[in-house]
Amino acid sequence: MSALSLHASGVTLAYGGTPVVTGLDLQVRAGEVLVVVGPSGCGKSTLLRAFAGLLPVEAGSVRAGDTPITGPSRDRALVFQDDALLPWRSARRNVELALAMRGVPRARRRAEALRWLDRVGLDGTADRLPRELSGGMRQRVQLARTLAAQPRAILMDEPFGALDAQTRATMQRLLADVLAGAPATVVFVTHDVDEALLLGDRIVVLGPAGVAAGFRRDERPGLRDLILAELGVAVLKEEMA
Ligand SMILES: Nc1ncnc2c1ncn2[C@@H]1O[C@H](COP(=O)(O)OP(=O)(O)O)[C@@H](O)[C@H]1O
Ligand SMILES: [Mg+2]
Repeated sequence: MSALSLHASGVTLAYGGTPVVTGLDLQVRAGEVLVVVGPSGCGKSTLLRAFAGLLPVEAGSVRAGDTPITGPSRDRALVFQDDALLPWRSARRNVELALAMRGVPRARRRAEALRWLDRVGLDGTADRLPRELSGGMRQRVQLARTLAAQPRAILMDEPFGALDAQTRATMQRLLADVLAGAPATVVFVTHDVDEALLLGDRIVVLGPAGVAAGFRRDERPGLRDLILAELGVAVLKEEMA
């Protein structure tokens, strides 16, 4: 499976007729990790929902490759802060579910699930139930399950927002590691600029008027301050809007 490019062209998104995002243009290249930062309420989650196919556009178009996005697809995985593990299934059997949906024969699922869990550092806890795991471990299971589904695009909505600083730092490094080997395009939403700099090949600041600024990670020194400045302006504009 190859990574999918994602495209938003002139996109307006709304809830009950009230626009949240207006005329947004954003291209995500196949295989890149694009991080979206922006003030609370500017439409980051809404944009991910549109790429996931969970929210139809009011105007413009969203595409995955050349194909218009009209609904959810196994090609595009959406990952939230709250894990969506099934509480009555062990870590391993949660991962096996993704394998079953991918059509992996039953006899091969166990070993493959264990390989994915091993990949996220969870060998040895495969038989525990979600409630027997810490928040960080549950996030690892969720990551293993997402990767096991082999999506061509992964949409991550502040996935580490609920973790303590230490666990969060560990998960950021782990994610950077596994993404480097995964043939997927990633759109990662965060309000943490350091997280954005660690993970993103490219970082865009979303404001009330769409993409306010875009940077490549290796573009120039002082990038962190530039992003913080853009973010500050976007926050002010959001508050005045
Ligand atoms: N289901 C919904 N129904 C109505 N309004 C919503 C809904 N979800 C989000 N909104 C509104 O849309 C705007 C953008 O929300 P959201 O995309 O969640 O922002 P962000 O993720 O950037 O914080 C906010 O003003 C929010 O209140
Ligand atoms: Mg959000």
